[in-house]
Amino acid sequence: MSDLQTMLPLYMVTSLDVVFLIVAGPGCVHCLRIRRYFLRPAIQGRLLALNLQSLEKMTSIRLSVSISSSSSSFLGQGSISSRTQKSSFPARKSGTCVCVVTPTTEKTAYKTKVSRNANMAKLQAGYLFPEVARRRAQHMVKYPNAQVISLGIGDTTEPIPELITSAMAKRANELSTLEGYSGYGAEQGERKLRGAIASTFYGDLGIEESDIFVSDGAKCDISRLQMLFGSNATMAVQDPSYPAYVDSSVIMGQTGQFQKAVEKYENIEYMRCSPENGFFPDLSIVPRTDIIFFCSPNNPTGNTASREQLTRLVQFAKDNGSIIVFDSAYALYISDDSPRSIFEIPGAKEVALETSSFSKFIGFTGVRCGWTVIPKELSFSDGFPVAKDFNRIVCTCFNGASNIPQAGALSALSPEGLKEMYGTIGFYKENTKIIMDTFKSLGFNVYGGENAPYVWIHFPGRSSWDVFAEILEKTHVVTTPGGGFGPGGEGFVRISAFGHRSNILEACKRFKQLYK
Ligand SMILES: Cc1ncc(COP(=O)(O)O)c(C=O)c1O
Repeated sequence: MSDLQTMLPLYMVTSLDVVFLIVAGPGCVHCLRIRRYFLRPAIQGRLLALNLQSLEKMTSIRLSVSISSSSSSFLGQGSISSRTQKSSFPARKSGTCVCVVTPTTEKTAYKTKVSRNANMAKLQAGYLFPEVARRRAQHMVKYPNAQVISLGIGDTTEPIPELITSAMAKRANELSTLEGYSGYGAEQGERKLRGAIASTFYGDLGIEESDIFVSDGAKCDISRLQMLFGSNATMAVQDPSYPAYVDSSVIMGQTGQFQKAVEKYENIEYMRCSPENGFFPDLSIVPRTDIIFFCSPNNPTGNTASREQLTRLVQFAKDNGSIIVFDSAYALYISDDSPRSIFEIPGAKEVALETSSFSKFIGFTGVRCGWTVIPKELSFSDGFPVAKDFNRIVCTCFNGASNIPQAGALSALSPEGLKEMYGTIGFYKENTKIIMDTFKSLGFNVYGGENAPYVWIHFPGRSSWDVFAEILEKTHVVTTPGGGFGPGGEGFVRISAFGHRSNILEACKRFKQLYK
C-alpha cells in the first residue's frame, strides 16, 4: 500500500466506492499493484478492471493514471455494461483509472493446438479501410492539433431524417409492450418491407416480394453469397473493385496465394477497368468464371456502366453459363439513363442476382439494412433454384435483419421518406461536383463523380499510397489509395464526397494550396 501511495494519487482512488481500471493494452506494473490492493478482502469488489486478465501480462513500466470526473458521473449510474463484461451493482461514487501505458510486444504464454485457417493467412495486411483508419490514427498522434478531414472510407455523414428515426424509435418502443413485442422475425425480412423494396426499386421489372431477401447490409450478403457458391467457385472482379469481393473469396478458399509481383490472387480473374476502356472490361479477353462480381455505379471509380455495356455483360454471362453478382449499392446516385438495376437488361434474371443497401441511400451505414434479389429464374447447372439455397444459407447463418432498422427502411420507402432520401443524395452529389471542379481546375484527369459519390483522380506514374501519404501529410485530408482496390487502381486516388459541406470546402481549399 505504501508503494502504491508513492506511485499514485491513491487518496483519490480510496475515496471512491468503485474504481474502474481500464487497461488498453497489456497493462503496466502499477496496474497490477492497483489490482493487488483492491483484491484485499476489506475492499474486494471495488475494482472493476476491464480486461482484467491482461493485467497478468505486464510488459511495460510507463504509467499514466487519471481520475476522470466526467467518466465518473457517467459510470456512477449504478450499472455498467460493456462488451467485455456485464455487471450491475449499487455505486454511490465511482472513478476511472485509465492506463494508457504503451504495450510492448505482447508475449503469448499459451498456444492452442488449433491451426490457423490457411485462407485467412493468405489475406494481405488488413482490410483496406481499417488500414486507412490506422494511418489516419497515426497521423493524428503525429499532429494532435490538426483538423483532419476524412474523405477516405466512404462513410456517410449527414443525419438520418427524423421521419425515419421516429419510425425506428416507435418500433423500439413497441418492443416494450405486450402487444408490440416480437422476437425472431422472418429470416427473409418483413413482408411489407420486401414488398416495398420490390415495388420501389424493381416496379416494372418483374421482381416480386418473394425474390427479395432483406439483410443487415450488402457487405454481409456478399459474404453469405460466397458461402452459397462455395470454395470451388471461380470468380471474376472488376479491377479496381470494392475489396469485399476479393477478400471474401480468399476467405472462402476460392483463390490461391497472393502474387506479390502482380498484386493479384491466383485463381481470380481481374477485369481491368481503366480510362482507356471506358472503365468497362474487354470481355473478349476475360476467361470464363462461375461468378462475375460487377458493381455499377462503381466503387471506387465512380463510373457507371451503360445499358449497352450491361447488355454485353449479360450476354457474356449467358454464353459462359456464369452468374453475375450485381452490386447496386449506389444506384440512386444515377442521374442519367444508365440502368439502376441489372434486371433492366432483358434476360438478366436467368444469369444475375443483385445486392444493394440503404447504407449510402439514407445514411444506414451504422443502422444496417440492405437486401439481395434472387430471381426464381436463376438456377444452378442441375436446375436447382439459387434462391432456395440462399434461403437455406440465410436461415442457417443469419436469422434475419433486426426489426428496428427494417422499420426505418420501410419508412424510408414511403413517399416522404423517398423525398428525404433523394434530398440527402442530392446533397452528396453537390459535394461531388465541388471536388470534381476543384481537381479539374487544377488540371487533373478526374473520373467518376457524375453518378456516384466517388471521384477518381489520376496521378500518372505515382504510387497511390505515396499520393495518399502526401495528401494526408500536407493537407490533413484522408483519401483512399487506388491501389487498395486492386492493381488497376495504382496511380489513382479515390476521394469520397461523404462529408459536411464545410469540410468539403475546406478540403478543396487545401487541395488547391497543395497542387496549385
Ligand atoms: C460497392 C459497395 N457494396 C457494398 C457496400 C457495403 O454496404 P453495406 O453498408 O450495406 O454493407 C459498400 C460500402 O461501402 C460498397 O461500396
